Amino acid sequence: MHIPAAFNPPSRLLLGPGPSDVAPSVLRAMAQPLVGHLDPSFVKMMEEIKAMLRAIFLTKNDMTFPVSGTGSAGMEFCCANLIEPGDEVIIGVNGVFGTRMCDVAERCGAKVTKVESAWGTIITPQQIADALKKVSKPKFVALVHAETSTGALTPVEEISKIARAADALFLLDTVTSLAGCPVRLDDWQVDAVYSGTQKCLSCPPGLSPVSLSPRATEVATKRKSKVQSWYLDVNLLSSYWGQERVYHHTAPITMNYGLHEALRLALAEGLESRWKRHEQNYLLLKQGLAELGLEIVSQAGHQLWQLNAIGVPAGVDELAVRKQLLADYNIEIGAGLGPLKGKIWRIGLMGEASKRENVATVLDALKKILKR
Ligand SMILES: Cc1ncc(COP(=O)(O)O)c(C=O)c1O
Repeated sequence: MHIPAAFNPPSRLLLGPGPSDVAPSVLRAMAQPLVGHLDPSFVKMMEEIKAMLRAIFLTKNDMTFPVSGTGSAGMEFCCANLIEPGDEVIIGVNGVFGTRMCDVAERCGAKVTKVESAWGTIITPQQIADALKKVSKPKFVALVHAETSTGALTPVEEISKIARAADALFLLDTVTSLAGCPVRLDDWQVDAVYSGTQKCLSCPPGLSPVSLSPRATEVATKRKSKVQSWYLDVNLLSSYWGQERVYHHTAPITMNYGLHEALRLALAEGLESRWKRHEQNYLLLKQGLAELGLEIVSQAGHQLWQLNAIGVPAGVDELAVRKQLLADYNIEIGAGLGPLKGKIWRIGLMGEASKRENVATVLDALKKILKR
């Protein structure tokens, strides 16, 4: 066969819904020499990753580590380990990822009660309280904290309390929220959480940080039936990520190098400062968009700082604008999904990409394209 030339990717500014831009030191970390997945140096690094993940999630949960796979693997990890066939669960659905979680939970054998809100709006405590009246023994109540498909941030503290009062576990998707806005596992009493590396942690996609509270760990370890997924079974994974170091699967070595560096950078910046930076750049973008006559369309008061859903003005070709941004300015932004297809653009200001100069660059490019 004709052997293609070595791949030489263009240099883009990643302002979409993820992956986000990665710091040069994270890419450098990933180019370090390989060691074995049981090498003492790697094992030491695994312990540092676990400790740093606890600091990022603001938790003392012992069962905190990165699952091999993207954010969806973390979603499957939580569902597969907590659900036994026939269990009832309640899931908030206000976008693509709540919808996906229902599918995953059903595949694990759960009977799912969906609590639905219009895309772009949040799930309210009252909706969850109403659903709990209809479900006799829910295993968990689950929410997507930051709905990347719509740009809405659902407040979770009160919902967590309602779930706990009903003796249900509380599961939270923090794929887009972690390290971009407050996520406080222990304060909010979150029992099971998963995230992704490629959003506000600014590491390439490939790992899903997860954490289980002691309550959730007990449910997962004392279940009657085997976890339906061998690869994601916490009972097996914990023997590798715990002190026994029993081989389970070959850890993606260089992905873990990258995550280690990305976590170091996030903690060196400080969580509060990192959240503040995301908020300030969101406000700057919002103001600049208003000057261009553009509007963020997700629910007022609950808009994400790291992902902005912008209404496409009438008469403007949504796709043509995105294509020009990429071709002429090397800027990637996202499209709307599902019912929002063609109606919104999604501009991500996540992690490394949340910078004043990036806000100015994308606003300037949009201005020129819309003028044309
Ligand atoms: C909120 C949310 N949950 C889950 C996922 C799935 O993550 P991944 O695409 O890394 O599998 C995403 C990805 O965009 C997401 O934004």
